[in-house]
Amino acid sequence: MNKRRITAEITAIGGYVPEDRLTNKMLETMVETSDEWITDRTGIKERRILSDPTMATSDMAVLAIANLLKDSGLQAEEIDCLILATSTPDQLLAPAASLVCEKAGLSSAWGFDLNAACSGFLYALSMGASLIESQRYKKVIVVGADQMSAIVNYQDRNTCILFGDGAGAVLLEPSSTENGIKDYLFKTDGKGAAYLSVPAGGALQPASPETLMEGKHFVHQDGKTVFKAAIKGMGNACQEVMTRNGLMSDDIDWVVPHQANLRIINAVGKRLNFPPEKVKVNIQRYGNTTAATIPLCLWDYQADFKPGDDILLTAFGAGFTWGATYLKWGNLRHNNGQPKG
Ligand code: UT7
Repeated sequence: MNKRRITAEITAIGGYVPEDRLTNKMLETMVETSDEWITDRTGIKERRILSDPTMATSDMAVLAIANLLKDSGLQAEEIDCLILATSTPDQLLAPAASLVCEKAGLSSAWGFDLNAACSGFLYALSMGASLIESQRYKKVIVVGADQMSAIVNYQDRNTCILFGDGAGAVLLEPSSTENGIKDYLFKTDGKGAAYLSVPAGGALQPASPETLMEGKHFVHQDGKTVFKAAIKGMGNACQEVMTRNGLMSDDIDWVVPHQANLRIINAVGKRLNFPPEKVKVNIQRYGNTTAATIPLCLWDYQADFKPGDDILLTAFGAGFTWGATYLKWGNLRHNNGQPKG
């Protein structure tokens, strides 16, 4: 008898966004911009900002995990592994995942950080799926969390209008059903590194009075170049994943794209022939939360997804890094009544 392949199924989801809102109207008082320009050019109306100075990325990840555990009825010590996708770890050392394991009470889990900028969550989801498929681990939490407000220059209108803070988490568990992570395709092109970066604070340019004076600890972006590359990268990755899985646009129930700019999302959707109602958007509420956009979008819209729905996730970010993931939505624990074994 043929044993069905084990896949990694999303069985729980959690999220966290800070209370404080930074609206377009508030930005009008900080830089030369307007609500109309930001809305037209990006689709963003407001973002959430973590303003408590005693908190950082790890704390948002902990709160997203707490939300996931509460919703699923699982205990923290049941988790085997944590993968934390972030570009804004609390510190360069120690790894933020270690802080999260400690603060969230994941006492049986090992954990690590993964930095692939805005594509981080998708890269991490594929790593988590591999750990589950290896059958060595039964419960892997994948988090995307970023505190972009820590690295954004609120005097630079090119970037400060775009980013926000937040965290989203999913639980992966083994499944022998048709549901789960079916395929993924990722690309990395280091030629893109110059167009979106935080130049200082790493090993090449450690913090110094000069780097501070020159504002090199903030995000720098050539928006136009990134914009074009994002549409092409996400469009091509989605097309390739669909083609090799024999999928047409009609076969996809939902598209959940990285939320960087509504015009990018619309252009990708149009290129692939997805009707707008299938493409999930929450950028108006949170802006670009880097690694957190996709899990926060899954969290926000989970009520719309039915087990077995065909979902395409796609992201593009600094590096450049980009890709697409095809999955069939899982049976969430809170819908099951009975938690899995
Ligand atoms: O998640 C990681 C990946 N990141 C992205 O995907 C971001 C990709 N890029 C973008 O989303 C867009 O390029 C931006 C939203 C950053 C900029 O939009 P754009 O349509 O590319 O505008 P632009 O940079 O070409 O600027 C057009 C005009 C310029 O004025 P002039 O030269 O035409 O007089 C800018 O100075 O708009 C001006 N401008 C602004 N005006 C009001 C730029 N930023 C602002 C602003 N408010 N905040």
